[in-house]
Amino acid sequence: MSNKAIVPTKTPIITRPNQVVTISRYILEHAESHSDEGGDLSGLLCDIALTGKMIAQEVRKAGLVDILGQTGTINVQGEEVQKLDDYANECFIKNFDHSGRVCVMASEEEEGPIPIPEKFKCGDYVLLFDPLDGSSNIDANVSIGSIFSIYKRISEGNESGTIQDLLRKGSEQVAAGYVLYGSSTMLVYTTGNGQVDGFTLDPSVGEFLLSHAGIKIPDKGKIYSCNEGYRNLLFDGSRRFLDYLQEEDKSTGRPYSARYVGSMVADVHRTLLYGGIFMYPGTSKAPGGKLRLLYEANPMGMLIEQAGGLASTGTESILELKPTELHQRVPLYMGSKQDVELAIEFETGVR
Ligand code: AHG
Ligand code: MN
Ligand code: MN
Repeated sequence: MSNKAIVPTKTPIITRPNQVVTISRYILEHAESHSDEGGDLSGLLCDIALTGKMIAQEVRKAGLVDILGQTGTINVQGEEVQKLDDYANECFIKNFDHSGRVCVMASEEEEGPIPIPEKFKCGDYVLLFDPLDGSSNIDANVSIGSIFSIYKRISEGNESGTIQDLLRKGSEQVAAGYVLYGSSTMLVYTTGNGQVDGFTLDPSVGEFLLSHAGIKIPDKGKIYSCNEGYRNLLFDGSRRFLDYLQEEDKSTGRPYSARYVGSMVADVHRTLLYGGIFMYPGTSKAPGGKLRLLYEANPMGMLIEQAGGLASTGTESILELKPTELHQRVPLYMGSKQDVELAIEFETGVR
């Protein structure tokens, strides 16, 4: 057997630190750059890391359902066996409702806002999350993730936040990120200032360690990520964009390769590292697209843009949309700047 180190096959634009830096140390050392008054945002991000570790632990048991007990039954430890999305959702709620750091939450899995129980203190932040993204992939052992989005509260007082605290433009986010439960567990987050960092969970010590410092998305990629099963339902602009990407032209690096996991976290993570474009445009069946503005498009859009890319509906900037509903959907293109600009040209009829 070869004794060569195992290295990734591609070389994304990141700095690999040669020291061990835990996520909590990193967050605290960077608290100044995210103008963290009172340290609450740092604490909140540390709580996200804890939540990610708790969900990762359950995800790693996903294939053992028949052995450990079916959903809805009581397992050998006397605990109720939950669906993974319910577990992840509860994990977020339970970890944050008494943290004293958030005043209201919203989850892709809950119809309305999640208030903070009266007995607990309310904080200055607003948390939105997709507790388990890509859930259709769980049983096939394919990567899934959790996505989070953080705002500063705008409502006055110490009571629970309001719907207005939640219905915000993506450009107002103070932090956003995701946890990817893949071949390893990774947490990637940004608090703005063009800084996006990735941490890999070392399961032997139970800590996220800085592994991808200062992620920058390449300006142009050679991969597109789209569910082409809906090709015949796409509108003219997006279909012509796909045709263009598939044409052969060496000078513009075409044809592009296709990669589509069907878990947004995994598809966007690859796009962030290797470049290219992730797209979920509107279709004749779902003209407004499928992905949720508040739980998916905004946080991923912030990460992509902070890494130097772009996020667009095809005609408008994702981060400038003013949401009117918690579960609003949105057509989406995000990734390398040049690739998204090209998509916009097709969508708007310039090409
Ligand atoms: P969720 O599991 O949170 O409902 O999200 C699934 C999303 C997203 O992860 C992925 O990009 C997309 O749905 C896949 O949809 P299609 O199966 O229609 O391609
Ligand atoms: Mn999702
Ligand atoms: Mn989900």
